[in-house]
Amino acid sequence: MDFNETAALDAVVASFEGTSDPRLKEILQVTTRHLHALVRELRPTQTEWQQAIDFLTAVGHTCDDTRQEFVLLSDVFGVSMLVETINGDEHGTEGTVLGPFHMTESPRRELGGSIDLMGGSTPCLVTGAVVDDAGRPLAGATIDIWQCSVDGFYDVQEPEKQPPGNGRGLFTTDEQGRFWFRTVVPSHYPIPTDGPVGDLLGASGRHPFRPAHIHVIAEAAGYRPVTTHLFVADSAYIDSDAVFAVKKSLIVDFTEIDDPAGFEHYGMTGPFRHAHFDIRLGREGGPQ
Ligand code: BEZ
Ligand code: FE
Repeated sequence: MDFNETAALDAVVASFEGTSDPRLKEILQVTTRHLHALVRELRPTQTEWQQAIDFLTAVGHTCDDTRQEFVLLSDVFGVSMLVETINGDEHGTEGTVLGPFHMTESPRRELGGSIDLMGGSTPCLVTGAVVDDAGRPLAGATIDIWQCSVDGFYDVQEPEKQPPGNGRGLFTTDEQGRFWFRTVVPSHYPIPTDGPVGDLLGASGRHPFRPAHIHVIAEAAGYRPVTTHLFVADSAYIDSDAVFAVKKSLIVDFTEIDDPAGFEHYGMTGPFRHAHFDIRLGREGGPQ
């Protein structure tokens, strides 16, 4: 081959022609086309290309059993959300990123139980139901919940302060598909910035914050599970999530209830915040 910009592309694409798995062949050839297009457009110097290699090497070196810097990189480029959205079920509640903090098993709790093991903050009651694509309740569905504290830290980030399982709970819906549990309103918080992805955000003048949210994985036999969030409506950064994970349908009012009739109605003993959110699941094998 006489090397020039287009001949190089054609030669590399052709080199993958014998890949026996058709999907892998497509992935390799499309990746080649886009990589070559990126380099032809950017025309990096040797030094810049080495910087790119060094950056990706640093991303790799930052990964270990509990830290996944490549996922974080995919998050801040909006690619995690793109993959999530491409694979979403249009008959179910919209999904968002899983994030890195679903790393321990949530303790099983009774409906109405509290996932706040710290106390001392305004309580919050979350109520809702898991329903099918026609709005029919799904009894026996599970919802796995995890969230950070009022100060913006997950239990695993503050093992000396928070008991394990704080902010986490696994609940099973009742006969009418309902769930309810007590918690506190989580805070907005920064994604990890002590690695190369943090350097990238810093260099581009981007903030690292995520708006306040509660993570949910909802599952029911025969239905497609959903991994999603409830976003706190009035949270800081609701319009500029560092990982682009906010969808309008997932923003929920956490209403302040401060009248005694309200306390009584919900079985609470004083002022609290109330959020209500129904989760819809599409049928397994059903239309997408
Ligand atoms: C989270 O919500 O836990 C999260 C998601 C993406 C990156 C970092 C944190
Ligand atoms: Fe989170």
